[in-house]
Amino acid sequence: MREKTKSAQEQYLEANFGLPDEDLKAIQEEMICQHCEGMALSTPELRILQFLIRLNGARRVLEIGTLFGRSSLALARALPDDGQLVTIERSAVNHGVAQGFFEKSPEASRIRSLLGDAKEVLKTLENEPPFDFILIDADKAGYLDYLLWAEKHLRVGGVIVGDNSFLWGGVWDDPEADVKAATAEKMKEFNRRLADPERYSSMVIPTAEGMTVAQKR
Ligand SMILES: C[S@@+](CC[C@H](N)C(=O)[O-])C[C@H]1O[C@@H](n2cnc3c(N)ncnc32)[C@H](O)[C@@H]1O
Repeated sequence: MREKTKSAQEQYLEANFGLPDEDLKAIQEEMICQHCEGMALSTPELRILQFLIRLNGARRVLEIGTLFGRSSLALARALPDDGQLVTIERSAVNHGVAQGFFEKSPEASRIRSLLGDAKEVLKTLENEPPFDFILIDADKAGYLDYLLWAEKHLRVGGVIVGDNSFLWGGVWDDPEADVKAATAEKMKEFNRRLADPERYSSMVIPTAEGMTVAQKR
């Protein structure tokens, strides 16, 4: 395993506002081995999400985009004992790796890990009680569809978070952004909808990749 050199800021944050958690560390190490750690939410981002979940009193959380389950486990750890996290992953390999980590964790009974394309899996959740918190962190071209689903299946006062909502500059038409025009249009509409004060109270947390956070009115 080869870990990248950490900046002084990263070291400071890790020492003071880290997630000193052996299970999360094990997943991080697996991601480093598989060269996919850059796809996962960072520790400061996970702490923001845990904070929001606790502040909102969320008990039913949905995550679209599991990868190896680091964010799923971190979110599940912010839930009360009777809380539940449902997470969706399209890759059977990623789903299998995540499932292995979930089964070994004390949160196993609180995590439902579903395999399949989110657009199909979401249909199977339509008759369940509304969610309190929905994290969208999967294929960027799907964000608008996931939002339209989430709007109907989130309780009033519930929170939607979309990660990577700057689309690497695609939402302000950065010519360097390596994204399809159609995906950029969908992400612009995703942010526009969440910025509508009639529907949501919202903000963007200006992380490097952008994190749009909105509370349903
Ligand atoms: C950015 S990663 C998720 C990172 C994870 N939330 C974390 O922070 O550890 C995106 C994941 O979404 C999955 N994905 C992409 N498109 C999907 C879809 N249509 N349905 C379900 N999962 C999808 C990918 O296979 C990938 O594992």
